[in-house]
Amino acid sequence: MDIRQKIKEIENSAHEALSSKRAALADDLIKLKNDFLGKTGRISELMKGMRDVAPEDRPTVGKLLNDLRSAIGEKFDAAIEGAKAKELELRFKKEAVDVTMPGRTPETGAVHPNTLVKDELVSIFAGMGFEVFEGPEIENDYYNFTALNTPADHPARDMQDTFYISENLLLRTQTSAGQIRVMENKKPPIKILSPGKVYRSDDDATHSPMFSQMEGLVVDKGITLCDLKGMLDVFAERIFGKGVKTRLRPSYFPFTEPSVEVDVSCFECGGKGCRLCKGTGWIEVLGAGMVNRRVLEGCGIDPDVYSGFAFGMGIERIAMLKYGVNNMKLLFEGDIRFLKQFKD
Ligand code: DAH
Repeated sequence: MDIRQKIKEIENSAHEALSSKRAALADDLIKLKNDFLGKTGRISELMKGMRDVAPEDRPTVGKLLNDLRSAIGEKFDAAIEGAKAKELELRFKKEAVDVTMPGRTPETGAVHPNTLVKDELVSIFAGMGFEVFEGPEIENDYYNFTALNTPADHPARDMQDTFYISENLLLRTQTSAGQIRVMENKKPPIKILSPGKVYRSDDDATHSPMFSQMEGLVVDKGITLCDLKGMLDVFAERIFGKGVKTRLRPSYFPFTEPSVEVDVSCFECGGKGCRLCKGTGWIEVLGAGMVNRRVLEGCGIDPDVYSGFAFGMGIERIAMLKYGVNNMKLLFEGDIRFLKQFKD
């Protein structure tokens, strides 16, 4: 076949290829372009045939071939560009995000009221220089009772119905156990706060077999009951509100002497008497006292040089008072309808 004819044929088949369905995507077009213009493509093959063209025809045929090469090249390049642009546009359309579409609101939980109160207490006392110490929930008899001046057969052990794990191991009944661990390991000045779960074999509307306490302990030279009272006044106003006062009533705990029961003036009625304070104007919130000399001695702290006060409160009780919760069980059931109310 005459080379001119071949040139014509290639030109036609390139046009055909460009308009065919095979040429829809940029990648297909690149392959097709290669079929014509690649190293072993049809045009390159034709170029090799130049050898057989009569010398006088070579310039014209050469020009024809070159023109063909650049014309086809340009057409393919334009088609490739066009296809790429279209593909990009399609991709943008497909991947477009409608920013005006309302999102799905994920269900979130709320911080449990016990945790809210615990965090608030820690923050109040941390502000007064207390450090947090967390003791173990499984304690031995010594830390939970004996070292707290409550030896075996002491009648005060009856105040706390205990879950025993073995003769010597028990679920701690009070965070007071942590006081001993701290005093054994740290010399005064001591100022610690110890939150945690405690366990008692007790279960009714106001008692649960597991509940939480917050313990405090201060030991230094010259600490008196006045220091305890001053600190409690600050604490009461911060947790229950401005104007709330405290009062101390004599009580008994084996590990403190003297021991007190601490009341706050009723923050509901301001002290006039209401249902919350059962008409008395006062609400009992915690136990406290001056650390018993025997407890200090047992921990190797000289009670003639140092003195201290301690206090312990039930976190659930504070949460119930603060948020007006009338049944302690609500704090343990994990009912979403109840917990939702504590979302801020
Ligand atoms: N541990 C006592 C209880 O569980 C509460 C308590 C009273 C703690 C007086 C103290 C304290 O640190 O000084 O009933």
